[in-house]
Amino acid sequence: MNLKEAITTRKSVKHFSYKKVDWKKIVRAIDYARFAPTAGNKFVNKFILVSDEKKIKELATASQQEFVGEAKYIVIVTSDEKKLIQSYDDRGKRYAPQQAGAAIQNFLLGLTEQKLSTMWVGHFYPEQIHRIFKIPEKMKIEAIFPIGKARNIRTKPKLKEKLENYLYFEKYGKSKMN
Ligand SMILES: Cc1cc2nc3c(=O)[nH]c(=O)nc-3n(C[C@H](O)[C@H](O)[C@H](O)COP(=O)(O)O)c2cc1C
Repeated sequence: MNLKEAITTRKSVKHFSYKKVDWKKIVRAIDYARFAPTAGNKFVNKFILVSDEKKIKELATASQQEFVGEAKYIVIVTSDEKKLIQSYDDRGKRYAPQQAGAAIQNFLLGLTEQKLSTMWVGHFYPEQIHRIFKIPEKMKIEAIFPIGKARNIRTKPKLKEKLENYLYFEKYGKSKMN
């Protein structure tokens, strides 16, 4: 799969087939994440791959989203925000989610390449996830990703913003190039 196809066909999926997927494919997608740009080449993200059924159900409770419990695998993405703040003061706070987002997008494209689907889940009670997975307090939980094979492969990617509404030239609000 080429890059354009991975970018344009990636879409969020909530419902997964019952067939268990090869966890090594998920590891391959996580391997792509570590090539994302990082402030000062500091690696502050950790990915946790979860397969334990009971813990997956607990993640559904922690996120208050039932579909999360349907997945056979979940990936939790965490950031050591404090490490970036130590190096960059307040800027570190901005860098942490930017860096996590870059890593996550690599990961999502890696999943798409392996024909796996996921849904970015950003709504959850972090204290519960910290407790269940013994995640150190200093680590921020960025998002969780239930992963599987899409059950309904025919659904199309969502309509996206048109480029002309997305891009300005030279200054904010200018829609045409000179
Ligand atoms: C930061 C962030 C948080 C999100 N949190 C949730 C969530 O908690 N639950 C959910 O169902 N979808 C969540 N989504 C998925 C979005 O709803 C989805 O990406 C959006 O509708 C666009 O669809 P697409 O991913 O198919 O392009 C989140 C996405 C992002 C980027």
